[in-house]
Amino acid sequence: METISIKEVFKNYKSLDEVRLVGWVRSNRDSGSIGFISFFDGTCINSVQLVYKKTDTENFDEARTVRTGSAIMVEGKVVPSIKENQNFEILLKGFKILKQSDEDYPLQKKEHTSEFLRSIAHLRQRTNKFNTVMKIRSEIAFAIHNFFHQNDFVWVSTPIITSNDAEGAGENFYVSSKEKNFFDKNATLTVSGQLHAEAYAQAYKRVYTFGPTFRAEKSNTNRHISEFWMVEPEVAFCDINQLMFLIETFVKYLIRFALKNCKEEIAFLNKSTDSGLAQRLLDVVDAEFVKVEYKEAIRILKSKISEGHRFEDNDIYFGKDLASEHEKYLCEVIYNKPVFLYNFPQEIKAFYMKQNHDGTTVAACDLLVPGIGEIVGGSQREDDYKKIVKRCQSFGIKTDEIDWYLNLRRYGYFKSSGFGLGFERFLMYITGINNIKDVIPFPRSYGPINF
Ligand code: 4AD
Ligand code: MG
Repeated sequence: METISIKEVFKNYKSLDEVRLVGWVRSNRDSGSIGFISFFDGTCINSVQLVYKKTDTENFDEARTVRTGSAIMVEGKVVPSIKENQNFEILLKGFKILKQSDEDYPLQKKEHTSEFLRSIAHLRQRTNKFNTVMKIRSEIAFAIHNFFHQNDFVWVSTPIITSNDAEGAGENFYVSSKEKNFFDKNATLTVSGQLHAEAYAQAYKRVYTFGPTFRAEKSNTNRHISEFWMVEPEVAFCDINQLMFLIETFVKYLIRFALKNCKEEIAFLNKSTDSGLAQRLLDVVDAEFVKVEYKEAIRILKSKISEGHRFEDNDIYFGKDLASEHEKYLCEVIYNKPVFLYNFPQEIKAFYMKQNHDGTTVAACDLLVPGIGEIVGGSQREDDYKKIVKRCQSFGIKTDEIDWYLNLRRYGYFKSSGFGLGFERFLMYITGINNIKDVIPFPRSYGPINF
């Protein structure tokens, strides 16, 4: 008999008779003559109940001894279940331990804290919760490629090793080798694929890059990690307003995709970790995202403070880089939906952003969402060669090191806009998981590096 997956069993249990399965034991209990194994194989988030009986099951005594975490092969009949919340169970004829797990298997059947599970990042994906979250991660990665492919974007593999600091924030990891001076200048891990994506947008019009990015930020918050994945589309002939439209369309597409293709996963998370999740996601796909100019946001925050509201940091002025508490207040309390902040003061944004006519702001936008804050940062790019060179100088950026990038402006660079969506931040939003370290398999952040 061929083995089949639990996913197939769930799909076809009404017409299935005898099945053979391989997978792992989540729990096992027995009462002498009858026993129950909760069994999973990773092909869907559900476990299957296996029933073994002294009267029906070969190796009944072996089945009683199998421990949580063990690998088993079973054969049996799909039968209707008497339990209310379960359509079927499998009455075992054959039972075989493929590999018994040691007694100290850490995932015994009890509630574990997220902190503890983070300390066993090599095992936590075997729990319902992490199995579900990482499955959603995989589905959304697929959806991202799907969205861009359907909309005629070309995928560009931008380099991981680079010699430029795209964001100019000085948060680089340096790359070295045994060989001294392997490269002719300092090499770093990329903080963003944007600059290279811009070069490709000038050849294909619509491109995107989707890969790991690295930032040596010391902030150990629940929203920062040192290695995260970023989706960065770049579109030639696109301005900031068209860009915000693209961001909103993209984010809603991904949420709709999840609601349709990760129904069971979202229902599970809704039940187990965040009871408002499903409704929140449904609301977002119907909501029109709010657009607020930075200067208006400053006015609102100031007026709230003068009405008596207290932030941890109440020093609000035009030119301030808003903290996450301010961003969250705007999208959670004032608007209660996703908010685009745009037209930021030029001093607090990157050198490549397009200067507005007012002489003080740049055509940049951040998308803020309730519960998290910033998930997207984007902008129209400065297309004027002289202006961008001047901006580099005022930021102390050496123009000869990125002359290739600046030179793009001299060869038909009419307009270009793009954004970066933090993949893990977005996953937090779509799963309701409140720590970024719990939506990426092996998180890296300031401090010890395990696994
Ligand atoms: O706002 P950022 O720094 O924008 C850029 O890197 C641009 N080059 C994007 C572009 O226009 N092509 O980062 C983009 C997003 C943030 O909004 C946030 O979601 C995420 O990346 N991000 C992080 N996610 C996790 N950990 C960190 N340390 C992050 N830093 C940024
Ligand atoms: Mg940003």
